[in-house]
Amino acid sequence: MRLILLGPPGAGKGTQASGIVEKYSIPHISTGDIFRKNIKEGTELGNKAKDYMDKGLLVPDDLVVAIVKDRLTEDDCKEGFLLDGFPRTVAQADALDNELKNLDCKLDRALNIQVEKEELVERITGRRICKDCGATYHIKYNPPKADGICDKCGGELYQRKDDTVDTVTKRIEVYFNQTSPLIDYYTKKNILTNIDGEQSIDDVFEDIVKALGSEK
Ligand code: AP5
Ligand code: MG
Ligand code: ZN
Repeated sequence: MRLILLGPPGAGKGTQASGIVEKYSIPHISTGDIFRKNIKEGTELGNKAKDYMDKGLLVPDDLVVAIVKDRLTEDDCKEGFLLDGFPRTVAQADALDNELKNLDCKLDRALNIQVEKEELVERITGRRICKDCGATYHIKYNPPKADGICDKCGGELYQRKDDTVDTVTKRIEVYFNQTSPLIDYYTKKNILTNIDGEQSIDDVFEDIVKALGSEK
């Protein structure tokens, strides 16, 4: 199954992705996670992306497209994949289309997780992430059993550098200006499904599984 996850910052893309990739045994490709890993390791790619990310702006298309193209040619993507946070502009979507044509395949579905603006800020500022395994929590909506410690691996929880109120406000604005046109883009291709993201994490997942029911 070849899927993309659309939705504003904080909609729950990463949270839902972990359940989807487990259920359908496909790799999770998050461009945000790839950049954060590169920043942590101090690579050239990380250095190029850092300033944009800290400001809540999109990393330039050519950089992102090159990474995703590379990743999609890896062996584990042969039977499918889940793209989380890519594409984010029409140029990226066109580049993805071309690459999939080259690989002789196409997207099965674009899931668009919908959440109102006010809720997004609360979700993002309360998010905590495990520094060892990447599991995502929320101080109110999905708290760990022990404060600041990951339930799954005992790792320490941290806040993303771009999860401040100011940067989130910018990221949401960027989403509405540059990424939301993709909703029309995939509607026209007849592969878009809207998912109500303002339900419990489990109920959102249930709707996603229903939406994917007929896919291989
Ligand atoms: P990226 O890492 O993709 O961030 P984002 O799109 O802003 O989305 P988030 O990861 O913040 O939110 P999410 O939807 O994954 O929510 P989550 O599940 O964690 O990108 C970061 C940056 O990288 C960009 O700003 C850009 O600079 C750069 N970048 C990345 N890709 C790029 C691209 N293609 N082109 C250019 N630049 C790119 O959930 C959020 C919180 O809510 C958590 O605490 C969670 O526990 C909680 N939560 C989740 N679901 C629910 C629910 N149903 N009810 C209550 N709480 C919930
Ligand atoms: Mg995410
Ligand atoms: Zn952990």
